[in-house]
Amino acid sequence: MRTPIIAGNWKMNNTQKEAKALVEELRPLVEGAQCEVVLCVPFTALSAVKKAVRGSGIKVGAQNVHWAEKGAFTGEISADMLKELKTDYVIIGHSERRQYFGETDESVNKRTAAALSRKLKAIVCVGETLEEREAGRTESVLLTQVAEGLKGFKSREFNSIVLAYEPVWAIGTGKTATAGDANATIAFIRKTVAKKFSPAIADKLRIQYGGSMNAGNAAELMSMPEIDGGLIGGASLKAADFSKVVAAGNKG
Ligand code: PGA
Repeated sequence: MRTPIIAGNWKMNNTQKEAKALVEELRPLVEGAQCEVVLCVPFTALSAVKKAVRGSGIKVGAQNVHWAEKGAFTGEISADMLKELKTDYVIIGHSERRQYFGETDESVNKRTAAALSRKLKAIVCVGETLEEREAGRTESVLLTQVAEGLKGFKSREFNSIVLAYEPVWAIGTGKTATAGDANATIAFIRKTVAKKFSPAIADKLRIQYGGSMNAGNAAELMSMPEIDGGLIGGASLKAADFSKVVAAGNKG
């Protein structure tokens, strides 16, 4: 059995003060959640959120990590720095990072290795663009992203990896993949992991759906056998909406 994981991706939203207020509102609404609940917040809010979730079981994540231990990498952040703040998770290779900041499968692989080396759990994002989808390239794009992004990891390391399938055309657009489509694509990703790594790894690996997942569609998405959770952007910024997604995760 794979424990469902519902993660909020706050992106570049919420000052410390706003973050604290949001967590205070959210905490009672997700109390007793049976799925894993994670908030991936801006670096500047990590401390405040870690403090605000204390005793609640909610985990805290960052949204990027550099592969080097330290050094001349202006604007980047190291795994040690995240670990010092007791960060649990880190999102790696989000499509916005790939699209606007030149993230590649190779850098995703290096960042993931750095995260795992410091016992941070990684949420590794994959997904096709609209152009790739319309050209019938969805499967080949995903195959490359999975094979290259996760290249070299050992079976035990996969315990600290979650994959997030986020079709780029569904992110922030209000367009969701249909539950059936998302399920089928995630099944393909799982098959790819089985082939490239091992069936046992694929069977255990949690794969989330992301892209306009919200209070209204979460239950249907979470009822699908291949979908093990969600990576939620917009709807994670409102406590009431996010808690409904978590409720759907409880039944997933
Ligand atoms: P969205 O974002 O829920 O706002 O579409 C999801 C994501 O980018 O992780």
